[in-house]
Amino acid sequence: MTAAGRKRGGVKNIGGALQIAIDGPAASGKTTVARRLASRLHVIYLDTGAMYRALAFLALQTRTDVDNEDALVRLCDGQQIHVVLDPGAPMGFRIAAGGRELDEEALHSNEVTAIVSTVAALPRVREAMVGEQRRIASEGPVVMAGRDIGTVVLPDAAVKIFLTASVEARVARRRAQLEAAGVDVAGHRLAEEIEERDRLDRSRPVSPLVAAPDAHVIDSSSLTAQQVADEIERIVNAAAGR
Ligand code: DC
Repeated sequence: MTAAGRKRGGVKNIGGALQIAIDGPAASGKTTVARRLASRLHVIYLDTGAMYRALAFLALQTRTDVDNEDALVRLCDGQQIHVVLDPGAPMGFRIAAGGRELDEEALHSNEVTAIVSTVAALPRVREAMVGEQRRIASEGPVVMAGRDIGTVVLPDAAVKIFLTASVEARVARRRAQLEAAGVDVAGHRLAEEIEERDRLDRSRPVSPLVAAPDAHVIDSSSLTAQQVADEIERIVNAAAGR
C-alpha cells in the first residue's frame, strides 16, 4: 500500500500530533461526523473502512478468494492500494486500487459489502492495514474513523469516541448515503446487512468492534451530524484544556 503525501491546502496543524479516533458499528454516522470534525479542526481525515473496502474491491477484480489470506496480504503489500489525503476530494480523501480511483459507488457496491467483513477479519490483512494507518497518522494531526482505531491503531489518541445508534437510525442513514452516492438501494436488505456486519465485526477474534475503555460513548440515534460534531468538539476542547 502507498499513501501519497497529504494535500496541505488549508490544513493547519493545531499543535502536536492531535489524534482523534472515531469508532462504531456500520452506518453509525462515523464518517460524516469524522469528516465534519476534521474540517472544523483543519486536520486530515481518513475513513479506514475505505481501505478494507478497496482491498475487497481488488479481491473481486483479481478473482482472489476471500479466504486466501496469503494472496490478500500480497495485494495489500503490492502497492496496489493507494491513499491520498485530500480534504477537497468528494470523500475527503482519495483511494485507488489496481490503478483505478474508487468512488463511493464502487466502494459500497453490493459485491464489495458482501465480502468486506470476511476480508477484514483476517489477522495478517489487519496487520498490514494497521501498519499503513499508523504510518499515515504519524504524518500529522488526524481524525481517523473505523472499528479499531481507539483500541488498536491509535491506542494513545487524545480523544476516543465510540459512536452508536439504533439499527433503525442506521438503516435510514445508510439508505440516504447510498442514494446520494447514486447506488440503487432496491437490491439491498439494509437492516439485515447491517445486523450481519455488526455480528461479524463484533465476533471476530482479532480486533473485534468494541469501545475502548477510555472512549466517550455517544448514542447518535436522535442527534444530527452537526450535534454529534459539536459534542465531540466540546470533548476535544476539554481534553486540550480549552
Ligand atoms: O465502515 P465500513 O462499513 O466502510 O467498513 C467496512 C468493513 O471494514 C466493516 O465490515 C468492518 C471493516 N473495518 C474494520 O474491520 N476495521 C476498520 N478500522 C474499519 C473497517
